[in-house]
Amino acid sequence: MPPRAQITGWGKYLPSRTVTNDELAQALDTSDEWIRQRTGIRERRLARPAEGAAEMAVHAAREALRKAMIDPGEIGLVIVATSTADQVFPSVASIVQYAIGANRAGAFDLSAACSGFVYALSLASDAISAGSIRAALVIGAEKMSGVVDWGDRNTCVLFGDGAGAIILQAGDPKAGLLASVLGSDGSDGEALVLRSRPGEGAAGQGPVIAMDGRRVFRFASRIMASSLREVTSKLGLAVSDLSLVIPHQANQRIMDAACEELGYPPDRVYSNLERYGNTSAASVPIALCEAADEGRLRDGELVALVAFGGGLSWGAAIVRWGRTIRPPWHVAVRGRGRQLWAAILWQWRRLLRLASSRRRRPS
Ligand code: COA
Repeated sequence: MPPRAQITGWGKYLPSRTVTNDELAQALDTSDEWIRQRTGIRERRLARPAEGAAEMAVHAAREALRKAMIDPGEIGLVIVATSTADQVFPSVASIVQYAIGANRAGAFDLSAACSGFVYALSLASDAISAGSIRAALVIGAEKMSGVVDWGDRNTCVLFGDGAGAIILQAGDPKAGLLASVLGSDGSDGEALVLRSRPGEGAAGQGPVIAMDGRRVFRFASRIMASSLREVTSKLGLAVSDLSLVIPHQANQRIMDAACEELGYPPDRVYSNLERYGNTSAASVPIALCEAADEGRLRDGELVALVAFGGGLSWGAAIVRWGRTIRPPWHVAVRGRGRQLWAAILWQWRRLLRLASSRRRRPS
């Protein structure tokens, strides 16, 4: 039997600054009531100006490594799903790889909008099952506050910043990722777009999200239900066999509509949308972390992850929760030492870079 990718660690990072609907309503023609009723969102976290997707990803990755008790030197692949990297390269994944001391890992960023984390999970799991690697770090990290137009009430109220990470390790087939489906329909891509407005990128405005909300809503409700049906049927199961569904956190009404279509109980759909809004590729791993920390994932149970977004794209995966891999204590201690050393080096390099950029700045 080929090895199965098991989730052995998870971590999240949310910026400390909370922005409520009422605060948004002070600068925008909107209200707490409208946002709550139409979306389910009460507040979101916003990163500091200097805090990018990479920094948030590093924090989430460190927590996941601690939980997994893995030596970062064992990680073969770092994949970061993001649409809001500070730069095209070096990738966020390469920055994370260095910051955590994963000195034997390949690293790349993956672009599949809000579906990105499920795509990355599926690819990393296949690499483990094929025997190419023994462990992977899979992250979703987004600074959505940097790509929304803060004057557009149709979009800016929906999004937030954050990062979530998991460690996948090769284990026996009793637990881990059992099946996944990935999909795309480029014909409807214009419904949700992130690009530079002509002429405005050069003026320093940068890329902004444009969206046909109703079109995306219809697509998302339909695809959440159909991809859950598809992925469960791959295993000869029904959606009702799932103990918990962890969906992309975009709109409470999307989750409720999918539940209604499937006849699935809404109390078995995990939602933290109220507190964080839509953090794009980070939303599924952040929700996974919270569900695990709250004890909502029990060993042996089936949990589905499902996401949809720009592309238009979608993905769903089924995991049998639990881990059969426990590292011996000396490997855990060695891993902790390597992480600490990598963190010291990373901070040192950042200070050096900061000092040299200050020296170069004309007075
Ligand atoms: N505050 C107050 N009014 C708002 C508003 C806001 N923040 N945003 C939009 N409105 C207004 C609209 O301008 C419109 O006014 P009009 O009728 O005078 O033109 C009215 O509210 C209704 O707009 P509508 O688009 O029908 O609302 P809706 O019920 O579809 O909800 C969304 C809008 C965006 C919340 C909803 O369509 C949605 O969530 N879509 C999916 C978006 C998404 O999840 N994107 C990411 C996917 S990964």
